[in-house]
Amino acid sequence: MFRNDLYHPSAAQTPALAAHYHRLHHVAFPGFVESGFFAQLREDVDRLLQRSMRRDFLMACMDNSPRRMNVVNGNTIEQLSQWVPAIYTAPELLDFLSEIVGERVLPLTDDIDRYVINQLRQSSDTFGAHYDDYPLSFVIIMESPGAEGGGYAEMVPNATSLAQLEENPIRLPLRAGDAYLLKADTTAHRVAPLTVDASRVAINLAYTTPGYVPRMTESAAMLYAEA
Ligand SMILES: [Fe+2]
Repeated sequence: MFRNDLYHPSAAQTPALAAHYHRLHHVAFPGFVESGFFAQLREDVDRLLQRSMRRDFLMACMDNSPRRMNVVNGNTIEQLSQWVPAIYTAPELLDFLSEIVGERVLPLTDDIDRYVINQLRQSSDTFGAHYDDYPLSFVIIMESPGAEGGGYAEMVPNATSLAQLEENPIRLPLRAGDAYLLKADTTAHRVAPLTVDASRVAINLAYTTPGYVPRMTESAAMLYAEA
């Protein structure tokens, strides 16, 4: 599934990736998905997106930041996905991420947002500013309009307010098949609005660490629960 030659606990570049993560609370993994596997994963995701639900509202508990996007929640994915649940719990992925984080990375069991697919599909679509309830978010980019089209992640590590995203956020323009890991509970983050009518699709996997007490905001239910 993945470029295990590049991304495994004892790979040559792993210490540098871990150092980047610890310094800036995120790290990108270019070319994470093996190209032969990408087509199969893309087919799975495209099929799941046929079940996506449109969201267009302001998230009250996250400073009224906008959600203009299509979502596929964890329950739908568990029932219908060929690949996403298997990726989520793949031991080689968990071992690699644990090495980066320096703690054991643990999957969630039944949260509706343990794994989700998010799609921005038209100009001004955005996944607005927020923090996650859980400490780790691993994101696989499945489709991207390119940096000029918007739809890239923006983040401020150790943010004191979501408004800091307006100042000088780190931008992470990535391509299909790339992935990144984010310390998502203390990093203010969002997906910048699309500036073109194009599609930006990501698989978001949420993880925790031993003893972590999650925030229990209503944001996951508001974004991902069935109506
Ligand atoms: Fe997030």
